[in-house]
Amino acid sequence: MPTVNRFAEFHDEITAWRRDLHANPEILFDVHRTAGIVAEKLKEFGVDEIVTGIGRTGVVGVIHGNSSQSGRVIGLRADMDALPIQEIRDLEHKSTTDGAMHACGHDGHTAMLLGAAKYLSETRNFDGTAVVIFQPAEEGGGGGREMVDEGMMDRFNIQEVFGMHNMPDLPVGRFAIRPGGLMASADFFAIDIEGRGGHAARPNGCIDPAIVVAQIVNGFQSIVSRNTDPIESMVISTTQIHMGDADNVIPQTARMSGTVRTLKPEVRDLAERRMKVVCENIGAAFEAKVDLTYERNYPVTVNHPEETAFAASVARQVVGAGNVDENAPPVMGGEDFSFMLEARPGAFIFVGQGETAGLHHPEYDFNDEIIPIGCSYWARLVETAMPAGN
Ligand code: NI
Repeated sequence: MPTVNRFAEFHDEITAWRRDLHANPEILFDVHRTAGIVAEKLKEFGVDEIVTGIGRTGVVGVIHGNSSQSGRVIGLRADMDALPIQEIRDLEHKSTTDGAMHACGHDGHTAMLLGAAKYLSETRNFDGTAVVIFQPAEEGGGGGREMVDEGMMDRFNIQEVFGMHNMPDLPVGRFAIRPGGLMASADFFAIDIEGRGGHAARPNGCIDPAIVVAQIVNGFQSIVSRNTDPIESMVISTTQIHMGDADNVIPQTARMSGTVRTLKPEVRDLAERRMKVVCENIGAAFEAKVDLTYERNYPVTVNHPEETAFAASVARQVVGAGNVDENAPPVMGGEDFSFMLEARPGAFIFVGQGETAGLHHPEYDFNDEIIPIGCSYWARLVETAMPAGN
């Protein structure tokens, strides 16, 4: 069974929404125009309940099926925010805001979920409730976390939740998914080192923070290579080191910072725990004060096995059995949908966007060709999970 025919009829309309969103990108929580359009369209479609302002600028729509006897409620989530990147292509629908663009395809995600909402409101061919979730601030702001923290899951009685992201270089007409860790946790660290400054020609009178920094950078790499099971994944990247103003002065202080990525919660715990031990003990060894701040940002995006198998079966309905990779390699980027998957069982899936510029690249543009595929996935997911007439 291929894509839903109705979406062929909606294709031009949804493409127009998508291009309008692309031309008017908004960053983080400041997605007021986008959220306004989403709420307005949901109203126009006859969605049963629309709530705005969840997670500051998030929008939630509730669509009841022909029957709600099953008592089932399924959440479908799209992200709305753009990125602080200058677009370099001269598209007809290019960004009209300097220094901002939809370089991750969230314009497409929003348009596809709107398309699905339109179809589901029109057909209502399911027994249960579909909740469409439009979140702000996926790109580092934790908009998904705020929506969950505000009690969205309980408020709408959401039992399972599903997400989708386009994937450049995955051919059009294909999906990719895996159970377990699909996308990495994305944490950040900053370390303040205080030594004792002095004349660079008399290091014996000083505590040189440069030596401490060097030991910590190496110590962190030994957590990856010596403490982590070689079959598991961990990245610790020290990306900034700041110290000193002169060539003949050993500075008093230094500051270093960077990011940590893992694919399993327990590997993430290991990284944080060992980094603390390394900092404390290198500080002690060199008699320097070492202050580590470890900030847990996005958790691992962990796909639940049962929902992943179900999502893959829906994808197969849409694009055929040979076009769904159920054991896709994980990605070391982070994803805010992880907070929703910590709150409820569910699955995140990648939809092929074909050969285009990569995500977060200034030449990226969402591929409108895949709109019927993404919309059909959402529609079939709801209709298959909560079949009508049972
Ligand atoms: Ni994205």
